[in-house]
Order: sequence, then C-alpha cells, then structure tokens
Amino acid sequence: SFNLSLDTMLASRIQRRAFSASARNLSKVAVLGAAGGIGQPLSLLLKLNTRVTELALYDIRGGPGVAADISHVNTKSTVKGYDPTPSGLAAALKGSDIVLIPAGVPRKPGMDRDDLFNTNASIVRDLAKAVAESAPEAKLLIISNPVNSTVPICAEVFKARGVYNPKKLFGVTTLDVVRASRFVSEIKGTDPKDENITVIGGHSGVTIVPLFSQSNHPELSSNAELVKRVQFGGDEVVNAKGGAGSATLSMAFAGARMADALLRAADGEKGVIEPTFVDSPLYKDRGIDFFSTNVELGPDGVKKIFPIGEIDANEKLLVEACLGDLEKNIAKGITFVQQNP
Ligand code: NAD
Ligand code: LMR
Repeated sequence: SFNLSLDTMLASRIQRRAFSASARNLSKVAVLGAAGGIGQPLSLLLKLNTRVTELALYDIRGGPGVAADISHVNTKSTVKGYDPTPSGLAAALKGSDIVLIPAGVPRKPGMDRDDLFNTNASIVRDLAKAVAESAPEAKLLIISNPVNSTVPICAEVFKARGVYNPKKLFGVTTLDVVRASRFVSEIKGTDPKDENITVIGGHSGVTIVPLFSQSNHPELSSNAELVKRVQFGGDEVVNAKGGAGSATLSMAFAGARMADALLRAADGEKGVIEPTFVDSPLYKDRGIDFFSTNVELGPDGVKKIFPIGEIDANEKLLVEACLGDLEKNIAKGITFVQQNP
C-alpha cells in the first residue's frame, strides 16, 4: 500500500541520514611496514581499537598474511592486506585518515639511530611520495628512525608536491613518554597512570629531554641516572635483544596510543594532549624547524603547540645539548631530499 511504501521511504531516508552522520566517524588507518616487528603488534592493537573502521596493511613482504591473521579477531573493523606494488600501496593509502609508518631497519648493538639513516631515509622518502600522491589529507605518523631526520624528509617531499600540511605530520615520540612514566612509577612505587611526564626535544639520545621538574616529583630532575635511562631506554632493549632488533612491543603500544589520541580528537574529544615531534615555531629562530613539546590534538591534527614552560637549571642544560644535535639531524634529512628528490 501507499502507507507502507511511504514508511519504507522514510525509513530508508532516516537510515541514510544516520549513515551519513556516522560516515564522518569512519576511520581508515593504514600501516606501512605492517609485517615487521612493530607493524604486527601495532596492527593487532589497532584492530582492537573500536574507533578504527578499516585497517590497511602494507609491507614489501607479508602484508596479506598478517592481514588474514588479524582479520579473524572478532571486532567490527575490516582488515585488508596489500601487495608490494605501486598500485597495492596506492590502494592501501586511498581514503586513509591516519597513516603510520614503521617501515625500515632497526638498530643493532653499538649503533645509534643516525646509523640507520642511509637505509631508512630512502624508504621513508619513497613511502612519503606515495602518501603525498594517494592520501595527502591523512595524518601521517612517522615511527621509522632516525625520527629527527625522517620527519623533515616527509615535510620536504610534501613541500615539493605542494601538499605539505604541518598540522598533519607527526614524529612518534610517545615511547619516550611511556618509558618516563613507567621508570618513575618503578622508583616511586606508584601507578604509572598517575605519572605523566612530559618529554620534549627529539627522539634519540640527548635530544630526548624529560621534564621531571613539571611532574609529581620535581626533585627527579637531578637524578642523572633516571634522566639517562629515559634518553637511552632504546639502547636497553637493543642490547637485551642482542642483534635481533629494537623495541617492537612497547613501541607498538606507544604507536597505538598516539593513533588513538588522534582518533579521539577527530571524534571531537577536547583536551587530547600528547608530546609529539612536529613542525614547531618554538626554536625556528635558532634554525630548528621541528621540535617535540606537548601538542593539543584536534580534528585536523595539530590544534595547539604548547611552549616548553618552566624548566629548572638541570633541564636548561639538557635542552641546550638537545638543540645542537637536533639541528644537525634535521638538516641532514632536508639536505637528503634536496640532493635525492
Ligand atoms: P623490522 O625489520 O622488524 O620491520 C620493518 C618492516 O618494514 C619489515 O617488515 C620490512 O619488510 C618493512 N619494510 C621495509 N621497507 C619497506 C618499504 N619500502 N615499504 C613497506 N615496508 C617496508 O623493524 P622494526 O623493529 O619493526 O622497526 C622498524 C623501524 O621503527 C626502525 O627504523 C626502528 O628504528 C624504528 N623504531 C622507532 C621507534 C620510535 O620510538 N619512534 C621505536 C622502535 C623502533
Ligand atoms: C626506541 O626508542 O626504542 C627506538 O627508537 C628504537 C631504537 O633504536 O632504540
């Protein structure tokens, strides 16, 4: 009857409206390097995140296998693996809201992160080209080391293509924050969820600057051993793994936390703040274009970059040491793309 068809029409219209409302919250997340030590557990943690609706797993080898495996986890998101071809990469990226890049080689004992530059710079440059081409609007989270150089590499690639949005490029330094929180909680016998330590600067050695003076335990800023442990926490894992790589599981946890922060901000949650390595005004007058401080995240990525705030005399020395190294690391990334576009 007429009434029935009207009802049906209305119902379908309401349904369509409901769909378009929720369509805004659809979140495709792509992982490039998904079959690696970080990529696999990171992809698993993203599969457990109910804000993710579609997961795209790409690697030069093993993406479809990891995807088939993770796709059996009974959460609602769809998971697809992509072949290591340019069209596979483009399809993985198309429509992504967030792209995480943990592709590249990890350290072995005796190496510092800059020793990875020769291999990882070109890997990240080429993946950034693909992102610029197929997902220029995505928020891009760089995990591949040396982060202090790979983030500027991505910025240069985007600039050359006219698609650079500094609000959407992030170096993932969350693992330093996670470590600082855990190490303090071990010393103080507290719950790490109550230990929020801001870590600023970059992501390697002395460029990592924990600000204990701003924490629940300001006196810890004079604990040189603890400061050093946060700065060189990565080495602890590299040495313990004895040549088999660097942090993968704690890194996956940290990467999933950073992705979740961006997803929550995209869903409209206010006050989402994480330290992250971004294009920052704070030290541009000293020739340093990227710096990590607390950043408030919003639907479009970076919403507000906080200044470093009050720091004590110990920390002022740490910041000076940080800036020296950071400047060189950033310049190296920029020069690399200029000479090897
Ligand atoms: P891994 O060797 O286990 O995995 C790397 C993966 O990248 C491999 O599966 C490899 O096939 C893939 N890959 C290589 N080239 C690729 C390309 N062009 N496209 C797509 N995939 C590609 O290494 P891992 O332990 O997972 O570490 C990965 C990177 O993350 C390293 O550079 C490491 O230093 C870095 N890392 C960063 C942090 C951080 O805090 N930001 C923490 C830990 C590790
Ligand atoms: C870390 O901090 O664990 C990573 O950057 C990997 C490394 O090389 O230490």
